[in-house]
Order: sequence, then structure tokens, then C-alpha cells
Amino acid sequence: MIKDAEEFYKILNEGCFPYFPVNVASIAAEKRFLRRSRKEWQHESAFNFTVMLGSRVIGAVGIMPENSRPYNAEIGYFIDRELHGRGYALQATIQAEQFARVFRPEIKRLQALIVVDNTPSIRVIEKAGYKREGCLQSYLKCGENYYDAYIYGKIIR
Ligand SMILES: CC(C)(COP(=O)(O)OP(=O)(O)OC[C@H]1O[C@@H](n2cnc3c(N)ncnc32)[C@H](O)[C@@H]1OP(=O)(O)O)[C@@H](O)C(=O)NCCC(=O)NCCS
Repeated sequence: MIKDAEEFYKILNEGCFPYFPVNVASIAAEKRFLRRSRKEWQHESAFNFTVMLGSRVIGAVGIMPENSRPYNAEIGYFIDRELHGRGYALQATIQAEQFARVFRPEIKRLQALIVVDNTPSIRVIEKAGYKREGCLQSYLKCGENYYDAYIYGKIIR
């Protein structure tokens, strides 16, 4: 929801996530992102979910099909730093996959692109059953730095 912008801004900025290629400049910019996200849902071009713990916003998980290959969709996620290591990202990843399996029959393959040093994310995606398929050189730009990234894939149907 648009009203969650402040929470997302706080999680992303206070988290100082070194390997997450998303920068949010302000709460207004986050609101713009959420409005765009709502439009993407309407156009069925991307599917972003809030991760909730009760009524608390604790992160997000998204499924983004490629424009020219909609059967191939990227999954991405983040969780509030205060709550890391409790299995929430794994749970969010599993539930997002369930959504794709049940409601998006056109999606055949999910993939994740992860900076090679992002150990927690690698752990999450491997526990979710994705296979490492290769390493893409200087593929992800986080801040001013370019990082090599593993590509992970899972065939879901
Ligand atoms: C990646 C991220 C979403 C994981 O969230 P989380 O809720 O802590 O994940 P989970 O609790 O489901 O699993 C984390 C796993 O990594 C492990 N882990 C965490 N830090 C680790 C480290 N430094 N070295 C090795 N393993 C580590 C945890 O022990 C856990 O594995 P386990 O269940 O086998 O013990 C979170 O770290 C995050 O928000 N990072 C910033 C955003 C980001 O990088 N997103 C991914 C982009 S590809």
C-alpha cells in the first residue's frame, strides 16, 4: 500500500544493504515506486508483495517477468535487518513461488541474480531449491560498485 512507503524507506535505508541494487532517495520516491508497482499489478507485468509479520511491514518479495520472455521471471526480496535469520525470506520466497505456480501459468522458470558475496541470499535461494547456473561478470551495480552475480534458476512447471 502507498501508506507503507515510510516503512519501506526506513527498512531499505537503515538496512544499508551492500548487495541490494535498489536505492530509494526519499519517501516521495518510494511512493512513486509503489504507485508504479500498483500499475504493474493492473497490467500484470510485475507482482510485488509486502512481507508482513502480523500488521508490521517487514520486507518485500517480487516476481518480475521479463518483457520479451514472460515465461521467465526474476524473483527478488529483502527483509528488515532487525529480523534477519528467522526464516522470513525463505518463507516469502516459497509463498511467491506458490503464487506463480497457481496464478501465473505462463511462468515456467523463476530466476534470481545474487552478488557472489551475498551469503544470506545465496543460502535462502539454495534452500528454496534453486540451482546455480553460472556467474555473470560485473552484472549488478550496487551504489557505485559493479559486482559479479550468480544466476540461479528453478523450473516450476
Ligand atoms: C537476503 C535476506 C533477504 C535474507 O533474509 P532472512 O529473513 O534473514 O533469511 P532467512 O532467515 O530465511 O535465511 C538466511 C540464511 O542465511 C544464513 N546467513 C545469514 N548470514 C550469514 C552469513 N554471514 N554467512 C552464512 N550464512 C548466513 C542464515 O543462517 C540463514 O540460513 P539457515 O536458515 O540455514 O540458518 C536479507 O539478508 C536481506 O534483506 N538482505 C538485503 C537485501 C538483499 O540482499 N536481498 C537479496 C537480493 S538478491
